[in-house]
Amino acid sequence: MSIKHVGVVGAGQMGGGIAQVCALAGLQVSLCDQNEAALERGLAAIKTSLERMLSKEKISAEELANVLGRIQSSTTTVSLAQVDIAIEAATEVENIKQIIFKDLDRVCKPEAILATNTSSISITRLAAVTQRPGKVIGMHFMNPVPMMKLVEVIRALQTDDTVFTQVTELAKELGKVPVDVNDAPGFVANRILLPMINEAVFALYEGLASAEEIDTVMKLGMGHPMGPLALADLIGLDTCLSIMEVLHDGFSDSKYRPCPLLKQMVDAGYLGRKSGRGFFSY
Ligand code: CAA
Repeated sequence: MSIKHVGVVGAGQMGGGIAQVCALAGLQVSLCDQNEAALERGLAAIKTSLERMLSKEKISAEELANVLGRIQSSTTTVSLAQVDIAIEAATEVENIKQIIFKDLDRVCKPEAILATNTSSISITRLAAVTQRPGKVIGMHFMNPVPMMKLVEVIRALQTDDTVFTQVTELAKELGKVPVDVNDAPGFVANRILLPMINEAVFALYEGLASAEEIDTVMKLGMGHPMGPLALADLIGLDTCLSIMEVLHDGFSDSKYRPCPLLKQMVDAGYLGRKSGRGFFSY
């Protein structure tokens, strides 16, 4: 089966970015979010990103219009009945993802692949709640999706080899570089990245240096394109906390203990860029 029609569940920064790169690659996209306002924000963000590409002459005005024309939006998953693959990019909470997977299993055609963009949750457990565990797989994009080349392709214990091959090919078609990764908490990217971000939050919490200074150390000392605290704000502090909790619970190792300041920031609603305030103000 060749993949021509992609469903995306969740119109946040990851879901919107995934919808955008799929439409840019010429695929039909059905973007779905139960929250009408989130759907509108997601579509507006896609337009802004495409306009940025237009201003840099990476795409033409005609292409921009065509890309937007390939994205249909809806507040119900019924619109995903005919997709060849559904990519879930909803909130990073396991029982929310399980509910979505049960729903996708019911509404999508039997041969459709069900993928998740989870940044840390077990693909094997998500596959187990469906009647098609062999067709469930992880497809982990990086933020900002239009710019970052990596896609971690994560096999559940149950994933069929043909599904793995199809998803690897799809990632290449989208202009990405797929990396074959096994199913363990945080996979590879977040197993390494999030403890570094959490340590930067500890450094701030313990008064080692200011947020600006911590980020300057990592940018100028290690050549990172952005500092860990600015990156945490880009990812979303709620997502960072969820990933640390998955690592902490999954490995039962205190080295993954989320920094109390990270928890407090989330409790206060300081979620980073998306809420206008995180370690920095936007
Ligand atoms: N859409 C379209 N174009 C975009 C864009 C977007 N959303 N964001 C940036 N760009 C383009 C800009 O137009 C610019 O294009 P040119 O090179 O043609 O000028 C280019 O990207 C660079 O952008 P900027 O000059 O504004 O800024 P920058 O050089 O600092 O790059 C960045 C921005 C690409 C985000 C860079 O800072 C970076 O690579 N940061 C690290 C990001 C990262 O680590 N991501 C992984 C997060 S972890 C994750 O996602 C996994 C998880 O599960 C949590």
